[in-house]
Amino acid sequence: MSTDTLHRQSAPLDNRLKLCASFVREGTRLADVGTDHAYLPVYLARRGRILSAVACDVRQGPLNNAKTNIIRFGVENVVSTLLSDGLDKVDPDDALDIVMAGMGGELIAEIIGRTQWLYDNSRRLILQPMTRAGTLRSFLCAGGFSIEQERACISGGKCYSVMLCSYDGIIRECSSRFEYIGMLDEDSSPEAAAYIDMVKGKLRRKINGLRQSGKDGEAEYYQGIYETLGSKV
Ligand SMILES: C[S@@+](CC[C@H](N)C(=O)[O-])C[C@H]1O[C@@H](n2cnc3c(N)ncnc32)[C@H](O)[C@@H]1O
Repeated sequence: MSTDTLHRQSAPLDNRLKLCASFVREGTRLADVGTDHAYLPVYLARRGRILSAVACDVRQGPLNNAKTNIIRFGVENVVSTLLSDGLDKVDPDDALDIVMAGMGGELIAEIIGRTQWLYDNSRRLILQPMTRAGTLRSFLCAGGFSIEQERACISGGKCYSVMLCSYDGIIRECSSRFEYIGMLDEDSSPEAAAYIDMVKGKLRRKINGLRQSGKDGEAEYYQGIYETLGSKV
């Protein structure tokens, strides 16, 4: 069987997980937190791009899905599963690159906050919050993490942001603009423009709702933020 055919036979990966995968270092030891079907580690293992992966989930059901895919695609020698709340049960030596995708931004921040060994410049965090991306960006700035790159993608008609981060101990001020759109104003792609557009649309609806309920002071506050979000859209 050709290498190409083998690659095609790996688990399906949407644009969102493909973007996460693009940030994973070649030959790394990966931890995929909240793995569910383990699509991401299986994809990377099938392509020979990682040394090992631990596919973690807090629930046994998703881990059973993960195990099925790991066996189905024949990567048991590279990908193992682990029942773990966040990184609590993960051996730090098995997690040089850490992906946390498809979970809420608050939960991702909480998991990072309680995992002391992530406060180490050699580790790479690849974060894709489903909600509360702003809360996560603020947490990273206040916690001494640098968002080195951020890119957006569109998957299933929705926009997502993926952040590549590492700890450098520098506490950064998080402006409202950074909280809402992060590094995406440095990205000239149509996906980044669509993400900023989505954020502005949500803010606009919030402002309108506040005005309708007579909360003009709060509406003004968010209007100020809206206006900082720039000229890209
Ligand atoms: C929506 S799925 C995301 C799956 C995959 N990472 C993706 O992005 O497509 C979220 C997964 O996170 C798991 N999860 C939720 N809280 C968790 C925690 N504290 N620690 C580990 N996994 C968690 C859930 O059980 C679920 O399987």
